[in-house]
Amino acid sequence: MDNSNSFSVVHNGIIENYQELKEFLISNGYHFLSQTDTEIIPNLIHYYYTKTTENTDKLLNAVHLACKDLKGSYAIEVICKDYPDTMIVARKDSPLVIGVGSEENYISSDIPAILSYTKNFYLLNDGDLAKLSKDAISFYDANLSPISKELKSIEWDVFACEKDGYEDFMLKEIYEQPKSVRETIGSRLKKNEKVNFDDIGFTKETLEKFNKIYLVACGTAMHAGLAVKPILEKLCHIPVIVDIASEFRYREPLIDKNTLCIFISQSGETADTIAALKLSKNEGATTIAISNVIGSSITREADFTIYTHAGPEIAVASTKAYTSQITLLTLLALYFAEVLECVPVEIVNNIKEELLLLPEKISEVLKDSSKVKEFAHKVYTEKDMFFLGRGTDYAVAMEASLKLKEISYIHSEAYAAGELKHGPIALIENGVTVIGILTDPYLVEKSVSNLQEVITRGAKTLVITNQELNTANYDEVINIPNTNSLISPILSVIPLQLFSYYISKEKGLDVDKPRNLAKSVTVE
Ligand code: AGP
Repeated sequence: MDNSNSFSVVHNGIIENYQELKEFLISNGYHFLSQTDTEIIPNLIHYYYTKTTENTDKLLNAVHLACKDLKGSYAIEVICKDYPDTMIVARKDSPLVIGVGSEENYISSDIPAILSYTKNFYLLNDGDLAKLSKDAISFYDANLSPISKELKSIEWDVFACEKDGYEDFMLKEIYEQPKSVRETIGSRLKKNEKVNFDDIGFTKETLEKFNKIYLVACGTAMHAGLAVKPILEKLCHIPVIVDIASEFRYREPLIDKNTLCIFISQSGETADTIAALKLSKNEGATTIAISNVIGSSITREADFTIYTHAGPEIAVASTKAYTSQITLLTLLALYFAEVLECVPVEIVNNIKEELLLLPEKISEVLKDSSKVKEFAHKVYTEKDMFFLGRGTDYAVAMEASLKLKEISYIHSEAYAAGELKHGPIALIENGVTVIGILTDPYLVEKSVSNLQEVITRGAKTLVITNQELNTANYDEVINIPNTNSLISPILSVIPLQLFSYYISKEKGLDVDKPRNLAKSVTVE
């Protein structure tokens, strides 16, 4: 609230120049009760409100003037004593949606939060403002000129945003993966037909022009990029660079009009990923956004958007979004391969066939989680764990390690198994837990001998595999169905998602809302 208790503000984001604005306000007689950046906003609005001589739309004008001073990111909602029926909202670099009801309207940072009240939404662009009452909404651009907006209907099922009998959203979302992967495949891939990406419609000439592909994202979405790098390179013969968005955006990456940049984001609101996309567009690259949220900020910036259609993901720890991102990027790689015609048709067809079988195979993996649960029970008090793999198994190791850290607060590291003897093996001592992922027939022998090295040093081992191994060597072996090793992450990650889940439960933690983390990271 402001000093006069006339204005109340809700703010999501960070005001970067708040110190400067605070000093300005203090020099104008304002005082502050907190250290927050947010507190300057209602006071700044009060400042302009009392200065303005206009009588019409005084509140809207004051909010607009205050927003012009703000640097950083914000989605704000403002109410004022003098306008009891009105609410002003504004956004820049933070998500804000307006839900339309009957005799009532809603604002939120995310669609699922208000999906049980309405399926009709307006989405604000950066710099936009809106004035709401219970039965009217008007929109304005950054210059306060009135604008019109299209009302969007969101198809998500409200039950998809509820736990549906599961103890936690994360568990529900893990078990939804046969369905979410099937939805991602959708009508893009049908038996004996070419992969359909008419919505992108790249010609052979367009694809041949690209001399490199960047996959840019954060966290789990970046791990999805790592998991598909091998298949994209194998099927398209174009070098693929996977980059962390927060590094990419500050590194002056080598991109130009011959670069294809693909941005992966479940929420479509991740600040660093959006900034990386804007940078790539400025450098002339062709940009594709991969998102799970219809109309999210990233989809409004990119040249092309493709949706994962995994359904709403509520748990902070991403699970079904990851497998859908890999599925969609695999489909894209297959599509590029069919347009480019640079690999034998049999290779492409084999992956297409295997992809169509995945929903069934995921169900098989999910049928019995007892072994994972038991192993989780044995090791949940540990302080450190290690995940090892080679090729796509290494990409899964990284994702599994992130999952474990974020929901169980156990420190873990993922290593390419071949790197072990270049340093990390020094950390292996009696009783330490090592998890091996072994799904690539060409690399299995190598990984087996790496695991032998840790066993010799006393490690406790859990192995996820679709290969025939001498199981007596390991403390626990989880067998998963066989598939083409290029798409095996979609199967091999599932026992490891469950592993983190059960460890978190054993420790009595809040699985869906781990400490210090947010579902959408809308600030850098
Ligand atoms: C995943 O479990 C994490 N919560 C996090 O790494 C997440 O994947 C990352 O913040 C990116 O989010 P996005 O996909 O919404 O951009």
